[in-house]
Amino acid sequence: MTSGGTESILMAMKAARDRAKDERGVTEPQLLAPVSAHPAFAKAAHYLGLEHVQIPIDGNYKADLRETERLIGDRTAVVVGSCPNYPFGTADPIPEMAAMASERGISFHTDACLGGFLLPFYEKLGEPVPPFDFRVPGVTTISADVHKYGYATKGASIVTHRDGEHLKKYQRFLYDRWPGGLYLSFAMAGARPAAPIAAAWAILHYLGEEGYVKLAAQIRDAVKQIQAGIADIPELTVVGEPIMSVFAFTAAEGSGIDPFAVGDAMDQKGWCIDRQHGPNALHLMISPKHLSVVDAFLSDLRDAVKNHGPSQGKEIRYS
Ligand SMILES: Cc1ncc(COP(=O)(O)O)c(C=O)c1O
Repeated sequence: MTSGGTESILMAMKAARDRAKDERGVTEPQLLAPVSAHPAFAKAAHYLGLEHVQIPIDGNYKADLRETERLIGDRTAVVVGSCPNYPFGTADPIPEMAAMASERGISFHTDACLGGFLLPFYEKLGEPVPPFDFRVPGVTTISADVHKYGYATKGASIVTHRDGEHLKKYQRFLYDRWPGGLYLSFAMAGARPAAPIAAAWAILHYLGEEGYVKLAAQIRDAVKQIQAGIADIPELTVVGEPIMSVFAFTAAEGSGIDPFAVGDAMDQKGWCIDRQHGPNALHLMISPKHLSVVDAFLSDLRDAVKNHGPSQGKEIRYS
């Protein structure tokens, strides 16, 4: 267990880097991750001395396979796919990407920080779930956050390896030149807080599989209703094909609507909606609680689309 998605990702990237050096002699390692992957991968590259190479996304907001094939090479230490990514909630083509990595002896990481504690229960509900876990050959590590859809308090995530003996050893830090004795650590922190781990254990046991399935059904129902409501507003459209409860919506082609102006109007009604770009869009992450406010949300959204003013310029500018 680690303190969060970022630390799980850091540890998986460290393991991949050390494995590439040990098994393939890679001394100038690269980390290949789709543009839509979480900034934790850029951070990991920065901290760990990996070159961060971004894989462009295709028209469906998924990692472009031809570009992946073009970018993968002798220096690649790890290829990353998200299931799903945060901005669009789409799943990268993980079986194809993992196959490209594994046939070259390269590690493949599935970032299931968002999906890891929801998709298994979507699957139990009979919802379509793309392949992303160790059932996919070639996936070597997975990150999954208990402090997201596991409903634990912050500070609880897991990083798992396909193979405890062979691959997990690359995650460890072992130091034997200290008078204090042998030092072994598997995470960034040394002494670590037990409270978030205990809280995570408690919520897992409190909810149990039955509880998680019930909450997943509430999320699924809220998502279906909100997306149907957005589909009924001709000026708006959902971006790509999100697989679960995280998605973006934007102006429908030719509608002339400014999504950020709609966001501003929603702010004034008391909603709090993230803005993002590429395309300019509003972003939602649905939790079970939202099922009780779907009608109010859609009514305010319809009104915001009809009666919004000019955008207050909350657009984030990148230099
Ligand atoms: C897909 C994905 N991966 C990784 C992370 C990083 O998780 P954390 O904020 O727990 O470090 C996030 C956070 O939102 C995420 O959405």
